[in-house]
Amino acid sequence: MRSIPILDLKAQLASYRERALQAMTEVMDSQYFILGPKVAAFESALGEWLDLPPVIGVSSGTDALLVALMALDIGPGDEVIIPAKSFFATAGVVARLGATPVFVDIDPQTFNVTEELVRPAITERTKAIIPVHLFGQSADLGSLYDLPQDQRPAIIEDAAQALGAQLRGKHTGHLGDLCCTSFFPSKNLGGFGDGGAVYGSDETLLEKMKILRVHGSKPKYHHHLVGGNFRLDALQAVILHIKLEFLDQWAQQRRTNAGRYNQAFAQLDLIAEDKLLTPFARNHEEHVYNQYVIRTPHRDALKDFLKDRGVGTMIYYPSPLHTQPCFKNLNYQAGDFPVAELACKEVLALPVYPELSDEDFNYVVDSVEAFFKTHA
Ligand SMILES: Cc1ncc(COP(=O)(O)O)c(C=O)c1O
Repeated sequence: MRSIPILDLKAQLASYRERALQAMTEVMDSQYFILGPKVAAFESALGEWLDLPPVIGVSSGTDALLVALMALDIGPGDEVIIPAKSFFATAGVVARLGATPVFVDIDPQTFNVTEELVRPAITERTKAIIPVHLFGQSADLGSLYDLPQDQRPAIIEDAAQALGAQLRGKHTGHLGDLCCTSFFPSKNLGGFGDGGAVYGSDETLLEKMKILRVHGSKPKYHHHLVGGNFRLDALQAVILHIKLEFLDQWAQQRRTNAGRYNQAFAQLDLIAEDKLLTPFARNHEEHVYNQYVIRTPHRDALKDFLKDRGVGTMIYYPSPLHTQPCFKNLNYQAGDFPVAELACKEVLALPVYPELSDEDFNYVVDSVEAFFKTHA
């Protein structure tokens, strides 16, 4: 039987394997493993690619969010607005700092928060909003992005899944006060372990985060701030630096694969509420398809069917954030955010990775077609 993983990182490795070995050997010979020149070189390169100052490389996407919130002095008594549907880290960092996550529902088409959904949740205590660019599509907060900083809460973009996606003609990270991304191996720019970055255009905030990532120390062993160990490793940085060269090309291939799925499912007459809905993209450049996520009321049966045929799929995420047991104290109930809750029951990610072969692509489409011939 054919076996098609949800993501094939081994196929990607072939395009840069020799260069990675060479770069890792250089780091090994230098014995300079944490921060240092290789990390700085990568931070500048990614900043240049984003058309922003050098990014701040950190230990994970989670730590990127944590350090961004710390830089904005968010803590007890503060509220932070986040989508009810995201990876746990988006909410976890808020709670870890003693602040209160305030959940809002999502748009049923983009799975993202919008200005209309966020505005009613803003109170005097709202210190920040974290729009998550979920699945790789940038979240549009409309006029909230345009207001002067003193007339709205801080905006921290969660672009963990969206490096390569644009918003109003620029990379994500140009409209919010800060933007966070992840280099977890399955992300658009994935390392050989954990890593992340924070970026933006406010040099004062960037400098503060640089200090926070080394225990708030500047100069060394003098601590005006309490930070943490949020440092990026040189081994990760050299790999990410090499892979950065491929990022535009990979983004394009993901978009092409997504377009081909959309077209194939439309031609097969599978697009209907009681069959499947393909992902909605506001426009071509604003979605980079870190995941290609369809919706179907037959989600669990389709997932099992595809598994039996060797097709890997994933559910991002099976439960929303507001009903997680650890947030019981916040007193949310099932039913509070019906759009996010229904999405959690209906979403299914199909393989969309850049190296997906034509044969494998056709096999996935044929398998989905075979399922709906018998089930819907
Ligand atoms: C939306 C979102 N935010 C934050 C994170 C956290 O990133 P990391 O796993 O690098 O800590 C992830 C990664 O899965 C994510 O998808």
